Amino acid sequence: MARKISFLNYKGGVGKTSLIVNTAAALAKLGKKVLLFDFDTQSNASIWLLKLERWNKINATGDGAIYSIFDPGRAQVKDLVIKDVVESKTGEKLLPGLDLVPTTFNLVDLENEYNGDPKRPPYLVFYDQLAAIEANYDYILFDCPPNILRASQCGVFASTEIYVPANPDALSLIGFTLLIEKLQKFHQLSASFRRAGMGPAAQVHGIIFNSIKTGVDIEVPKMRMQLRLNQFKAAKRAAPNAKIFDTLIRDAMVVRRAVALGLPVSLVSAEATDAGPAGDNVITDYRKVAGELVQLVQ
Ligand SMILES: Nc1ncnc2c1ncn2[C@@H]1O[C@H](COP(=O)(O)OP(=O)(O)OP(=O)(O)O)[C@@H](O)[C@H]1O
Ligand SMILES: [Mg+2]
Repeated sequence: MARKISFLNYKGGVGKTSLIVNTAAALAKLGKKVLLFDFDTQSNASIWLLKLERWNKINATGDGAIYSIFDPGRAQVKDLVIKDVVESKTGEKLLPGLDLVPTTFNLVDLENEYNGDPKRPPYLVFYDQLAAIEANYDYILFDCPPNILRASQCGVFASTEIYVPANPDALSLIGFTLLIEKLQKFHQLSASFRRAGMGPAAQVHGIIFNSIKTGVDIEVPKMRMQLRLNQFKAAKRAAPNAKIFDTLIRDAMVVRRAVALGLPVSLVSAEATDAGPAGDNVITDYRKVAGELVQLVQ
């Protein structure tokens, strides 16, 4: 069974997309079969992995984008998978094992214009279609915007685990707290649609600190986050084994540069990766996060 995972925080810009794309790439490098869904209408993950030219073609018509399973409703999730999505300029497959279901800007219409059957909310439509391809993967990852509106709900409802990317600041802590509240509300709202066999609604299983600058002391923000996490665990609002990841993702210029290159950082040339004194770099961090994720059995 695939592990289904959303990366979510109510705070924007904390590094959800960077973390999910680079962790997905690290998992694929470990030989895992990985499918990444882009549920953020900003399309950052899709533009990143497809590069602008390929993504523009999908955005021009919306054919092949995730919104087409809702409107016009003819496409099925299984038809939208772009196999081994990362390609060189000449079309050579650079990262076998990492597949993508892309989004385009029209996903925003799911929040307003979409008038589906109230008895079948979008997340249920999505869930039922996902079943057809689940067995092909070890990991199915959902990149979400910083909210739990309809698009995110698709990822959250299908997930078995949620991880929270956070920066070492007060706003990330507030974003995490708000996430737990909104998550509980959504789980209550969607409870009647949860059928036997779906398993329990997803809880937060971990927090991952991202963009840590050299010399910044993160002990205090980490302690505050741990306290908050402990409170949620005691109230059974987070998974009993939820933890702050040991690995911290350092702040590194190459993470920003990788987006423009259309590559996960692990495929950016070695000399561009700002190796630290020990020869380690941000690629090592993502690899370690992937390792911790693999170790965390639900
Ligand atoms: N470890 C890092 N080092 C340097 N820059 C980073 C790092 N992680 C993320 N960034 C940069 O921070 C910005 C925000 O990151 P990202 O888009 O991943 O955040 P997000 O949480 O997905 O944002 P949104 O809420 O808009 O979806 C981007 O410019 C990204 O390149
Ligand atoms: Mg994002």
